[in-house]
This record gives sequence, C-alpha cells and structure tokens, in this order.
Amino acid sequence: MTEQQSIHGVWTKRWTFILAATGSAVGLGNIWKFPYMTGENGGGAFVLIYLLFIAGIGIPVMLAEILLGRRGRASPINSMHKLADEARSTPFWGGIGWLGALAGLFILSFYSVVAGWAVFYVYLMASGTFTGQSAEMISGEFGNLVSDPGRLVDWHTLFMAITVAVVANGIHKGLEMAVQLLMPLLFIMLLVLLGYSATQESFSQSLAFMFRVDFSRLSETAILSALGHSFFTLSLGMGAIMAYGAYMSRQQNLASTVVTIGLLDTLVALVAGTVIFTIVFGNGLEPGAGPSLMFQTLPIAFSQLPGGVVLGTIFFVLVTAAAWSSAISLAEPAVAWAVETLGMNRGVAALIVGVLAWFLGVACALSLNIWSDVTLFNNNIFDFFDKLTTNIMLPLGGLLICLFVGWVMDRAIVRGEVDIDHPTIYRVWFFLVRFVSPVGVAVVMFNKLMG
Ligand code: PFF
Repeated sequence: MTEQQSIHGVWTKRWTFILAATGSAVGLGNIWKFPYMTGENGGGAFVLIYLLFIAGIGIPVMLAEILLGRRGRASPINSMHKLADEARSTPFWGGIGWLGALAGLFILSFYSVVAGWAVFYVYLMASGTFTGQSAEMISGEFGNLVSDPGRLVDWHTLFMAITVAVVANGIHKGLEMAVQLLMPLLFIMLLVLLGYSATQESFSQSLAFMFRVDFSRLSETAILSALGHSFFTLSLGMGAIMAYGAYMSRQQNLASTVVTIGLLDTLVALVAGTVIFTIVFGNGLEPGAGPSLMFQTLPIAFSQLPGGVVLGTIFFVLVTAAAWSSAISLAEPAVAWAVETLGMNRGVAALIVGVLAWFLGVACALSLNIWSDVTLFNNNIFDFFDKLTTNIMLPLGGLLICLFVGWVMDRAIVRGEVDIDHPTIYRVWFFLVRFVSPVGVAVVMFNKLMG
C-alpha cells in the first residue's frame, strides 16, 4: 500500500515529531499552571491524582489521538470525517475536530495573555528592576502589571504576532530549530533552579507539600481540575497532537514516543512545582495565590542567585519559547483545516485565527482589571475560558476520541496503526482506551457537574 501524506508536509527528521509534540506539551501548563493549581488544591493528594490521570488516561489517549492523525493524514476535522467514513459511521465524528479547533482558539486567547506576562518579565529581568529589592517588592510587581490594561494588551499583542508569524510560514521550519535548541536549555535552567532550591531551608517543606498525600484536602473540584489539567498539559483532546500526528512518518514507534513525551512533560511540571514552593515557603508567600504564583516567586530566586539578572532573563526567554511552541500547536488545527477545505493561503488563515484569538485575549486581559465585574457562569472572562476548555472541552474531546478508537474504528486497523509488538501491552492499552479512560472521564465530569 502506498503511504498517504498530508498536504502540509511530513516532519523531516525522525526526531522532529517527538520534539514538536514535546514542544506542544511543555509550556505554561507545566511551569505556570501546574504549580498554582497544586497550591490552590492543597498539594500532595492533588499531585498524586494528577499523576494517576497522566498514566492511566493521558498517555493512552495520546496514543489514540496520534493514531487518528497518522491514519487520517489531514487536519483534525478532515481526518475525523475520513476515518468516520472509513468506519462507515456517522459524519458527526467530525465534531471532535470542530470542538477541538474551537477549544484551540479559546485556549490560545488566554494563553497568549499569560505568555505576554512572560515576555514582559524578560524585560523586567533584563532591566535589573529586581536587583537588590526585597521579596515583598518583587512579588508586588505582578499586581502593577495586571492592573494595567494597556500593558497587558501590548504584550499579548506581541506574543500573538510572533505566534502567527511562525504558523503562517508552515510550522516545520521555525519549530524544528527552536525546539531542538530551546527545550533542552529550558530543562537545564530548571535544574539550575532546582539546585538553588536544594540549598534552601524551605526545600524540605516544599517536598512535603508536593509529595505528602493528605486525602482530606482533596475536593471534587480538585479531582476535576487534575483530570482537566492532565489533558491540558499533554495537549490532548483538541486535535493539536492529532494534527502533528498527521505529519508523522509510519516508521516511528508510537508507544515509546508517547511514553517519552509523557515523562518529560511530567518531570518539567514536578521540578517547576518543587522550585516554586521552596520560594513560597522560604518567603512566607501564599501557596494558593493563584495565577500570579510563578511570577511572584521565581524572580525572588533570581534576585538571590549570583548572575541572577542574566539567568533570570534567559529563563523568561525560554519560558516564552516554551509557550510559543505550544501556542503554535493551538492554532494549527484550525489553520490546517482552513488551508485544506477553504483553499486559503496559510498566511491568511494564520492571520484570521490569530486575530480572532487576539480579540478574545483582549477580553481576557481586561477581565483582570476594568472588566472584572463582568461574569460568565460566576467566573470572570479569563477564568471562564480557562475552565470551559480545561475542565469541559478537553476531557470531552478525549472521551469522544476514546469512544471512536475503542468502539467505532475497525479493530484490525487500530491494531495495525498502533503497532505495539507486545500483545499484553497492546491489550492493556486497548482496555484503557475502551473502558477505563471514557468511564473515568465521564464519572469525574458527571459527578462535578451534577454536584
Ligand atoms: N500543553 C500546553 C501547556 O502545557 O502549556 C498547552 C496546550 C497546548 C494545551 C496545546 C492544549 C493544546 F492543544
């Protein structure tokens, strides 16, 4: 059988898929979101549940999602139409693609605002604003940023512009280099910070907070948040990984690739959390501070490290790069669809998606100050988009992906595509996709929504 190819191209090197998918997975979700969610949800028990969701649901779903992309060889919307057709099922399965493209747009909106903060912190670090300042003053700087609508919108605009620029040029060129060089550097910087944390007295308190499990602190909200975040952090349930799978060659082993990505992603989150809580406890800060947490803590560490101005500047550049390689994948499903189906030029498609997400992002930015009274289902606009996507759209997308792969697709095709040699591992995976993941997602979502 001749192998089909995506019209958007194929990754040029074997490693590129792993790098691109890791670039998509590792981002603000690991360094910004995971630590503050852990802080808000009381620590160890949340971390444990999150790890269980990653291993038992996230990794199996990732395999299923890539498989759909690699077989469909098109944008998620068109891949799902093709595969539904191949399985002689209803075209409604295309809904997975639509839901995903919309979720990508929504996430990109608030994601770009937060990435804008990271860009602003590059400037703050480089200009030496924090040098010789007290911890209190450093953590207070964040409040000045969020209360200033003009600054928020400017940095959000800058970040969206660099995202659109790469997506417009075809994601391969920019991404391959950026990810090969910058991701490993980010990891090294995190290890430097971990080394610094290990010298601090509050290090053991941080470890205890992150890893000592106390189930009495676990609420139903925390369980849903852990589930939602396991999808968010691995970029699952919205077609990003499916779109990348479409550019993956057939020779590559899926199972080991997916496990590698899952491990790397988890490691980054755990290291970031440990560093951040060391600073929190060492400086009497509040673990449950929310979205400001990373920005209020890490600059304190840099202000105390030798060469902190340079290290801190590099660090925030790398965080920006990590956010950028994730943002690209958020736009890709919608852009790839517009190119394929509407015959649109890639640049125009990227611009339209970017402008739409930019407008939503402006609303998110303003909801942190002048529009803070505007609420949607009891949340400000920023939190509304975050919760709608993380807690509902992504898990729902993941659930539908499992139902499609587990129950609708021809089993021989699934078996041929996943290409797991070991029969027991294959059976465990298929069982997780058929039963455990869909039931797990359904139970957690249903419980929370009904409660
Ligand atoms: N996984 C990214 C992060 O952790 O920052 C965010 C993300 C990217 C979510 C792509 C979803 C997605 F499709």
